Formats: sequence, structure tokens, C-alpha cells
Amino acid sequence: MSYQSEYDRSIIDPQGFWLDKTDLIEWVQKPQVALADDMNGIERWYPDGILNTCHNAIDRHVESGRGQQVAIYYDSPVTGTKKTITYSQLQEEVSRFAGGLASLGVSTGDRVVIYMPMVPEAVTAMLACARIGAIHSVVFGGFAPNELASRLSDAAPKVIVTSTCGIEISKVLEYMPIVNEAIGFSEKKPDHVVVLERPQAAFEPTIDRDITWSELMRTAQPVDCVPVSATHPLYILYTSGTTGKPKGVVRDNGGHAVAMCYSMSAVYDMSPGEVFWAASDVGWVVGHSYIVYAPLLFGCSTVLYEGKPVKTPDAGAFWRVVEEYKVKILFSAPTAFRAVRKEDPLGKYYKNYKLGSLKALYLAGERLDPPTYHWLHDLSGLPVVDHWWQTETGWAIASNPRGLESFQPKAGSATMPTPGFMVEILDENGNRASPGEQGSVVVKRPLPPSCLPTVWGNQTRFEDGYLNTYPGYYLSGDGGFIDEEGYVFIMGRTDDVINIAGHRLSTGEMEEIVAAHPSVAECAVIGVADDLKGQLPLGLVVLKDGTTQSNDEVEKELIASVRKSIGAVASFNRAIIVNRLPKTRSGKILRATLRKIADGETYTMPSTIEDPTVLSEIEEYF
Ligand code: COA
Ligand code: AMP
Repeated sequence: MSYQSEYDRSIIDPQGFWLDKTDLIEWVQKPQVALADDMNGIERWYPDGILNTCHNAIDRHVESGRGQQVAIYYDSPVTGTKKTITYSQLQEEVSRFAGGLASLGVSTGDRVVIYMPMVPEAVTAMLACARIGAIHSVVFGGFAPNELASRLSDAAPKVIVTSTCGIEISKVLEYMPIVNEAIGFSEKKPDHVVVLERPQAAFEPTIDRDITWSELMRTAQPVDCVPVSATHPLYILYTSGTTGKPKGVVRDNGGHAVAMCYSMSAVYDMSPGEVFWAASDVGWVVGHSYIVYAPLLFGCSTVLYEGKPVKTPDAGAFWRVVEEYKVKILFSAPTAFRAVRKEDPLGKYYKNYKLGSLKALYLAGERLDPPTYHWLHDLSGLPVVDHWWQTETGWAIASNPRGLESFQPKAGSATMPTPGFMVEILDENGNRASPGEQGSVVVKRPLPPSCLPTVWGNQTRFEDGYLNTYPGYYLSGDGGFIDEEGYVFIMGRTDDVINIAGHRLSTGEMEEIVAAHPSVAECAVIGVADDLKGQLPLGLVVLKDGTTQSNDEVEKELIASVRKSIGAVASFNRAIIVNRLPKTRSGKILRATLRKIADGETYTMPSTIEDPTVLSEIEEYF
């Protein structure tokens, strides 16, 4: 099928296009209407459709004869465990755990926070919520108590599902102290905490609140799928914005299920029964969409890998998994492959494995830098696809849609807009940029299925943050350009968000933490280029007059407080004490100029700068 005809139809007739795609899933009540405005004037997909996502991800496959097919390959080098779970086994586990949640008082519309490592029970808990129409909110296991607490306060879950620990290479990280501290900080307290007991760590239960996973499962009765409206929320996934308060991106049931299935064939060229592996974490959107929902909704086998690209045990880890499970598509972040390349530049490990099953590599989470693209392509001889997406969309906004048509790749480009996404570049006045001209990357509304219809509990933040800057458009927050041939290039965020090792974090939030230190008068936290992690945060800090602490002491305390507040994953490891910061005449810190200086790039003197001499002072620090 040609991409262009598919894409054109999705733009000219979105209603007809997406109504046709409803055949990809099973409905309790098939929608007759594709798109209608909600009471806030926001477009919603399939408003009259009724379905259950868990039924589509598990039960329908068991009913159609896939019961004995592997649904999940669990591979955990950090614990030395491997396990296969068939669709029938998954149905048994999920329906029982759903019954367990129901016995704890969870019903349709209630929230359940899942704070878990990469274990099959995390997937079971997510699908069990979907089964009973509860709304899950998975929190990445690398986040510290404050981060978990802010999500608990916002989502107000009835139940938290967690584990006694996660394992980072060989470090056992106990979760219960984090969960207990977060509950202490949170404005909203859950009624119950379900704790998966892992052999690597024990825990001291809080009476009347905590119940172990095994105890809950021992007494629980399996339950059936509860039909919900297509617009009912399936999950909330918090993501970093420009401030310390994370945004709860809401995902619906119907549009999401359709988009997931469509993407499996159009973007990834998968067929049911094949093996898909997203080497990510269930705490991120890539994990939600491509470890859990899309592969299972489409009847594929998915790989759940509790390990790293390197050190578990070596740089051949990814290739070992591909060979062992006959993975057809491997999806990960560029930083993961940079880590592999650093340890195995000549691909010695790669050559040790039989990788005939692998048909393409997909990368996202940050821009795929051309050197990594070329290295991977030369090593594997396979298509290497850079595709651009966000938590807000849940699937690729631009990609090389190999299931429709393969485009000649261009290093540094995410290729073509995915069907359904009308991607444009606007200049600061809201006018369309010419080909090759950089500007703000926007998507003309309506957004296709799966994209967020709101921010949980904060419609104003949704509209102000995404829709009001350029009326009629969704503001992606990314800058970039489209070239003469229609290829989309995403060059980086235009706001206070950075990507560290494929993890989306807020420099605005880090600034709030740094500014709260008693010796700090003012500060800026910027993202600077890093060969391995893509970007790393750097603090530039002005101390209060009369501070008695040494610069080293302040730096150490700042590093410790960001680690304590956000988590080690923020990788805030450097703060430079400076005399003053460059500002505009109205007092705004010139962060973009600071970034350029830190990255050693040339910059033009901002016309609004208050005192140009400060820039040469700053240059001295680098
Ligand atoms: N739970 C607890 N801590 C975690 C964690 C988790 N799930 N994930 C990371 N951390 C910790 C790490 O242990 C590390 O702690 P330390 O400073 O005490 O050593 C810190 O957070 C930074 O971790 P990370 O940024 O992952 O760096 P790293 O050096 O350990 O590993 C990579 C580097 C590139 C190998 C790793 O980041 C990676 O595999 N990235 C791929 C990311 C990815 O898949 N992103 C999803 C988007 S598709
Ligand atoms: P997240 O919401 O965590 O998926 O992060 C989304 C952000 O990651 C985007 O807004 C981009 O800044 C960045 N991103 C993701 N994929 C790509 C890509 N292929 N190219 C460039 N940036 C990307």
C-alpha cells in the first residue's frame, strides 16, 4: 500500500479513515461516530463506542486460538530468571488479580498507582486495572519519594501496587521505604498497598494497609472484563513539564486500542504471532505502548527485559535476547545503543549471535544522532528507523512507516508524518515556515486516536500548555523543520524539558530544588550535550552574599538534594558556582545562550541582554 494515499485519506477524511480502523479490535458496541467534541470543545474519538481493553489484549486472543502462544517472554539477567507466559496463563493471572483489586474495593474509574520494577506482575497489574475499568498510573521505579508523592496526591489512588525491591544491575533497591515515605508526604492516602515479595528483599507490613501479592492472589476470585466507554480513561501517565508539578497525561480506551493495533502494522510492519521487543521500562510511555498494550492488543509476543544494554552482563545483552526469542523488531533509545557502541565499537558481540529473525531497529526518546545511526546501520545492515513521539501521543508522530512503504532514510530525520498527524512548522508569529526553516513543531487538530484529551484534573493546564499558543494546533514543545521532500527533523525541546538517557525530565523542576537551597541566590539549570546520555543537566548557581559554605560544599548538597527529590535518574551531577547570570533587561535568564556556551557552540549576542560582559565571564567556566 502506498503511504501517500493512506496519509492523504487520514487527513482529508479522518472520520472515515478511523471508523474503518475500528475493525482492528473487538467492541461491545461498535462506534458509529468517529469523532465528536466533548463538553470542553475537545475532540474525542469513538464517543459512542463501548469495549474493554483487557478483553482485546488477552481474552479475544485466547478465544481465537492463541491461548498457547507466548504472550510475555520475561528475561531478567539481574536475577537470573527466565519465564514464558502464554495468553491463557496471562488471562488466568490477570482475571484473578483483577478480582483481588475488586476485593480491595477498586472499581471502575478508581485509580491504582503501580510502582514496580520490570517484572511480569507489573504487566498483570496494568491489565487487571483495564479489566475492571480502573485507571492505572504507573510510576517509574527510579523516581524518589517526592515524585511518587506528587503523583499520589494528584491521582488519589485507592490502592498502590508495588514490590519489595527493584534491581539495578547488582544493586538491590528497596521500594517499601520509598513507598512509605511517599505516602507520608502525599495529601491523599491509599486504602491498601499490595506488595510483591521478591526474594531479594523483605518488608515490614503496615497492619490493615499492606497485603502481599501472593496472599491477595490466594483468596481472589477471577473476574470478567467490564465494558467501558471508549472515552473512559485507561491510564494516567505523569510526565515532566516545565515546573515541578508533573502533568498527568490521560489516555482513553477506544482510540488508544485502535491506534496501537494500527501502528503495529503501519509503523512496525508486524503480524500477529511475531515477537516484538521494546527495550524500555513500563514506567515510560514506550513501555506502556510497546512492551504492554500494542504487542498484546495485536496478538504478538512481547519481551519484558529486566536488565540493561550493557553490564548485564555485557554489550551483547540485546543481541542475546533477540536471538533467544527470535525478535523481529527491536525498539530502544539511542542512548542504549551509544552505551553498546562505547563498549563494543567493532560489534564483536553482535557477531556472536544468529540474528536472522531481526528485521529492523526502531529508536525514539531523543534524536537519533547521525553517528549512532550510521554505526548501527553499518553493523547490522538493517533498516534503522528514527521515529518521533511523546507521552502525550502514545505513538509515533513521525516515522518511516515500513508497513505501508519504506522511505529512503535520512540520518537525523524521523522521516514522514505518521497517518493521522498533520505535522507543520510554525514561526513565532504563527506563520508556516518554509521548507528547511526551523520553528515550532505543531500538529494540526484534530489529533488522531490515542492522543491525550486532557491533563488529569487540570483542563486549564491542558489547554494552556498544548492548545492555546497556536489556535487550531497542538504544540509539541519540540523545535525542528521539514525539508523540501517532506522529511521531518526534530532538533530538540523549546521548553524546560530535557532528555537524559531517553528519560524525560524537567530542568524547571531541578531549578526549583536548587533555588530552595539556603545559600543559593539564583540559578539556572540547563541541558548540555553528553556523548552517552544525549543530555545532562548542569546547574549554574549564584550564591547569596555572605555565604560561609565553600563552593564544593554547596555543589555536593545541591547534587544530593536533586537526587533525593527526583531520583538518581535525574543525573544532576554538576553545579558551577558563578558570579552572575546573563539576563535580559526585564530580568529573564538567557538560558538558550547559556546552553550554547556550555556546548561550545557559536552564539549571537542577544539584543535584549542587560550587560554583555557577563557572557565572557561565563565562557571562562567552560
Ligand atoms: N530504578 C532505580 N534506579 C534507577 C532506575 C530504576 N528503574 N533506572 C535508573 N536508575 C538509576 C541508576 O541506577 C543510576 O543510579 P546511580 O547514579 O546511583 O548509579 C541513575 O539512575 C542513572 O541511571 P541511567 O541514566 O540509566 O544511567 P546508567 O549509567 O545506569 O545507564 C544507560 C546508562 C544508557 C545504559 C541506561 O540509561 C539505559 O539503558 N538507557 C535506556 C533508556 C531507555 O530505555 N529509555 C526509554 C525510552 S525508549
Ligand atoms: P517522552 O514523552 O518521554 O516520550 O519524551 C518526548 C520527547 O522526547 C519529545 O518531545 C522529544 O523532545 C523527544 N523525542 C522523542 N523521540 C524523538 C526523536 N525520534 N527525535 C527527536 N526527539 C525525540
